[in-house]
Amino acid sequence: MTKLLITGGAGFIGSNFIHYILKKYPDYEIVNLDALTYAGNLENLKDIEENVNYKFVKGDICDINIVSDLVKDVDLIVHFAAESHVDRSIMDSGDFIRTNVEGARVLLDAAKNNGLIRFHYISTDEVFGALGPDDLKFNEKTPYDPRNPYSASKAAAEHLVRAYFHTHQLPITISNCTNNYGSYQFPEKLIPLFITNLMENKKVPVYGEGKNIRDWIYVDDHNAGVEAIIKKGKIGETYCLGGGNEIANIEITRMILEKMGMGEDMIEYVPDRKGHDFRYAMDCSKAKKELGWEPKMNFDEGLYKTIEWYKNNKDWWRRIKSGEYKEYYQKQYHER
Ligand code: NAD
Ligand code: TYD
Repeated sequence: MTKLLITGGAGFIGSNFIHYILKKYPDYEIVNLDALTYAGNLENLKDIEENVNYKFVKGDICDINIVSDLVKDVDLIVHFAAESHVDRSIMDSGDFIRTNVEGARVLLDAAKNNGLIRFHYISTDEVFGALGPDDLKFNEKTPYDPRNPYSASKAAAEHLVRAYFHTHQLPITISNCTNNYGSYQFPEKLIPLFITNLMENKKVPVYGEGKNIRDWIYVDDHNAGVEAIIKKGKIGETYCLGGGNEIANIEITRMILEKMGMGEDMIEYVPDRKGHDFRYAMDCSKAKKELGWEPKMNFDEGLYKTIEWYKNNKDWWRRIKSGEYKEYYQKQYHER
């Protein structure tokens, strides 16, 4: 499979995935379909704009005409595009249902109607709900129990993906991954928000008491997991991917503060997120056993690298925080 349609490739993980693939497989051809919502930023891909094997198409995954046209020339779809921020889904879930559920349906139909194109769906650990402190980690058999509109929309899409496998024999795979961190992450998520706030000498807003736990994975470890699944994964199967780094938010906050030479006076405890899932953690033994995949990045080192990236790319995030990033690129591309 050498012709890939990547959806959502202008976002955080999608853009890292495109870089990862083109570096490792320079002869692969990639089409990146992205609507450039607030989270899509073509500056993430500036260095490969001129690559003959890379093409960007501005468009909505819910638009069947654009999607049907693009799938004709590819042999694999890797579907990243989504509304991805839990806090936004709590404020308004409309776009989450449209993009995450209807968008998946449109892509699945296009894949089905064009010769059953191989389809990989990028999902999240959040579809499994929330763990207590002593609960066993999530695995591929954990029942679905999404508890916020974002995770509910991702779970709904997963059900559709599996339904197309069983009903139409669409060759699908799914990965459920834990919280990613690394370069190009939009500064509304915990790690980049805190790093960039501190660089601007602003306080960092810790929800509640900061006791909630997430399992953090370096974005290229996630990408390597997806690569392993599209190469070696069994059709119809789900694979859980995680970083093996269960850390409470307050601990991460302290690590960031320490690495940036700042004190606890920069913490601002703010009211908790509504329905805040307490803990996510992933048992990745299936991916390790069947695909030979496991995460490589040590969290301390990955966090250091990430802070360095934000220090060295101040223009990138300052243009996002000021809203400037939209203006230049939005003018370059028009809806087809
Ligand atoms: P992101 O918000 O950074 O990027 C999403 C991208 O999708 C943006 O470029 C946006 O413009 C595009 N997009 C949104 N709506 C679209 C539409 N209707 N049509 C076309 N493009 C559209 O998200 P991310 O953090 O990179 O996450 C990528 C995927 O990985 C998502 O499916 C998310 O659910 C999943 N995931 C994320 C994490 C994480 O920690 N960030 C963890 C596990 C799974
Ligand atoms: P986030 O990066 O939004 O990812 P998710 O909600 O998908 O896990 O949040 C990670 C954790 O950090 C989550 O427990 C909520 C918490 N958090 C804060 O304490 N303060 C913040 O400003 C943000 C954005 C998140």
